[in-house]
Amino acid sequence: MAYAAFRSIGAYVPSKILSNEDLARMVDTTDEWITKRTGIKERRIASSDEFTSDMGAKAAQIAIERSGIDKSQIDMIVCATISPDYFCMPSTAAIISTKLGLSNATAFDISAACTGFVYVLSIAKAFIESGMKKNVLIIGAEKLSAITDYNDRGTCILFGDGAGAAIISATQDKSEAIIDVHTGADGEFADLLMSPNGGSGSAHDTLDQEAGNCFMQMKGNETFKVAVKTLTKDVVDILKENSIEASQIKHFVPHQANLRIIKAVGDALKLEDEQVVLTVEKYGNTSGASIPMAINDIYESGRLKSGELMLLDAFGGGLTWGSALVPFAPKVV
Ligand code: ACO
Repeated sequence: MAYAAFRSIGAYVPSKILSNEDLARMVDTTDEWITKRTGIKERRIASSDEFTSDMGAKAAQIAIERSGIDKSQIDMIVCATISPDYFCMPSTAAIISTKLGLSNATAFDISAACTGFVYVLSIAKAFIESGMKKNVLIIGAEKLSAITDYNDRGTCILFGDGAGAAIISATQDKSEAIIDVHTGADGEFADLLMSPNGGSGSAHDTLDQEAGNCFMQMKGNETFKVAVKTLTKDVVDILKENSIEASQIKHFVPHQANLRIIKAVGDALKLEDEQVVLTVEKYGNTSGASIPMAINDIYESGRLKSGELMLLDAFGGGLTWGSALVPFAPKVV
């Protein structure tokens, strides 16, 4: 049987920084409020001619180079995004494949908001374990600034742009295998986080009036409470089902939505500070890109070593949630 190994990571962030002070000049807020309630100090913003696919392709290029495989061996590309280049078609994954010089790989997007990267990880694992694919490029890429309402202080302080990517490859070595991935969803809470305009659910007159307005709307406080509960239950369940203790986790990589949410989950699991990966301060919430960007952060700073166990944990619009137990398994050359 083939197992799925997490071979490499890459990320890209745009150079433009949007600080809390910048936002305080745009809406009624302060650096102090944002820092205290979210832990965010700044986020990156893509330029007007820089698309989600551009960021995704740059992150992917780095992940491919670090994987040790030739790009021609990639047989599937899956991109998690809620801010695709185009809302209906073509998929951002298909555009990325062309930007990478690939023309023969299966390519599609998935929409699971901030849980997107855990979802694409589960897809890659399933395709590889079934024997259908051998090298899957998974990407989380977001230009959230394109769907953020910069008049709404409840949301615009949270979101940023960026991309992360990973190569997941078939292996016969069970010690390298992704141990488990959990994913779930409950549409009952759909109205907590929505981009209500622009889809077939919009009334036609609304669609005409607000064409192009796909801004995110969020009931932040209610979302916060569900997030803490769901994220905690999710990691407790996946650890228990796999007979793994929280102390065996080298890197807890949660979705970077809010420092208070991350701390609450870390405390519930009794994790030490050095186990918890944090990038929320410098990148804010980049939805589907946040987990691979955080993994890239510990990789580039030399903290992530071969064989170390990561616990991924995410929560987002849908509602969706997911967690994964992933050993870092770069190819031995
Ligand atoms: N600056 C100053 N005051 C503000 C701001 C702001 N930017 N935003 C809201 N306030 C005010 C509110 O108006 C309210 O004022 P009031 O008491 O006079 O009515 C007060 O601050 C408290 O508002 P809350 O919404 O209760 O603030 P809260 O502590 O919940 O923090 C936040 C808001 C940061 C949005 C938080 O609720 C949160 O992080 N929620 C979870 C977000 C999340 O995890 N989303 C899921 C992933 S995103 C995705 O899937 C795309």
